[in-house]
Amino acid sequence: MRILVTGSRGQLGYDVCRELQKRRIAYCAASSQDMDITKADSVRKKILAYRPEAVIHCAAYTAVDRAEDEPGLAFAVNEGGTKNIAESCKQTGAKMIYISTDYVFPGTGTQAYEADAPAGPLNVYGQSKLAGELAVKESLRRYFIVRTSWVFGVNGNNFVKTMLQLSETRGRVRVVDDQVGSPTYTVDLASLLCDMVQTEKYGVYHASNEGECSWAEFARAVYEIAGRPTVVEPVETEAYMRTKARRPKNSRLGRQSLIDAGFSRLPCWQDALLRYLQELNDCGTRRDGKNGN
Ligand SMILES: NC(=O)c1ccc[n+]([C@@H]2O[C@H](COP(=O)([O-])OP(=O)(O)OC[C@H]3O[C@@H](n4cnc5c(N)ncnc54)[C@H](OP(=O)(O)O)[C@@H]3O)[C@@H](O)[C@H]2O)c1
Repeated sequence: MRILVTGSRGQLGYDVCRELQKRRIAYCAASSQDMDITKADSVRKKILAYRPEAVIHCAAYTAVDRAEDEPGLAFAVNEGGTKNIAESCKQTGAKMIYISTDYVFPGTGTQAYEADAPAGPLNVYGQSKLAGELAVKESLRRYFIVRTSWVFGVNGNNFVKTMLQLSETRGRVRVVDDQVGSPTYTVDLASLLCDMVQTEKYGVYHASNEGECSWAEFARAVYEIAGRPTVVEPVETEAYMRTKARRPKNSRLGRQSLIDAGFSRLPCWQDALLRYLQELNDCGTRRDGKNGN
């Protein structure tokens, strides 16, 4: 099987490429330099030249707050770019995995959102990602839409790295405690995507590490595992909210469609976090040249 991976320099794309390599599946890693997905011609050329049997589309505009000020760019990448890829997949007969987000939901109530729940994004980023989902559905029949949440991986910035950086200078941090969801380690999600892409079980799925927590609980777990003494002070969104974009309070994603299709569920988020911090530690050790050799 030949797979083209977009966003290969991002958190998830990087780990999808590593997983494909590990499984000895042929792939082409496309960064924004290789292929600007907002340019239909560039996308068509790349896909026609490589002729992948599948595209795992991890590239996206992911700056949630900035998107409020530049909706044109967010939609150009997340809707327009996705449409370009879907149309080229249609032309070449490739299947497509599109990565979407918990932010397509309004986050009311406390029940988990299953894959067929009505969407209702609260912010521009969520609207643009939802528009990307619709673009995929309009162009293709052989697609997977995989919504995930609270992503962390070694290749990029994320909440875990931010918390670790803050703990270098602060003894206390204030973190929102009334937004609940599930963290997702890119290594675990990449493994699922590589299983999924080899099947014909098309549809919409939710995939995040098992279990749930608030951001404050997540931060506390980071400090506990990393052995940092920083204290987490839980605050309510309304008391603290200085972000431009509104965020859903209930980001719980129900995994029923994943279970029904017979895919493996991801390990629990605490286990994922433990492995991630170990990986960060190993990367740091390698960079410092203290890897024991
Ligand atoms: N991060 C989260 O917490 C989160 C939560 C839910 C869902 N998701 C979804 O999960 C997926 C992966 O997220 P991530 O955290 O891995 O994202 P990320 O680290 O921000 O990486 C996104 C990648 O998209 C590429 N990109 C942006 N504009 C592009 C363009 N015009 N043409 C080609 N490539 C472009 C960038 O490429 P270059 O680096 O080459 O410029 C970047 O490496 C995305 O679909 C995202 O919406 C993420």
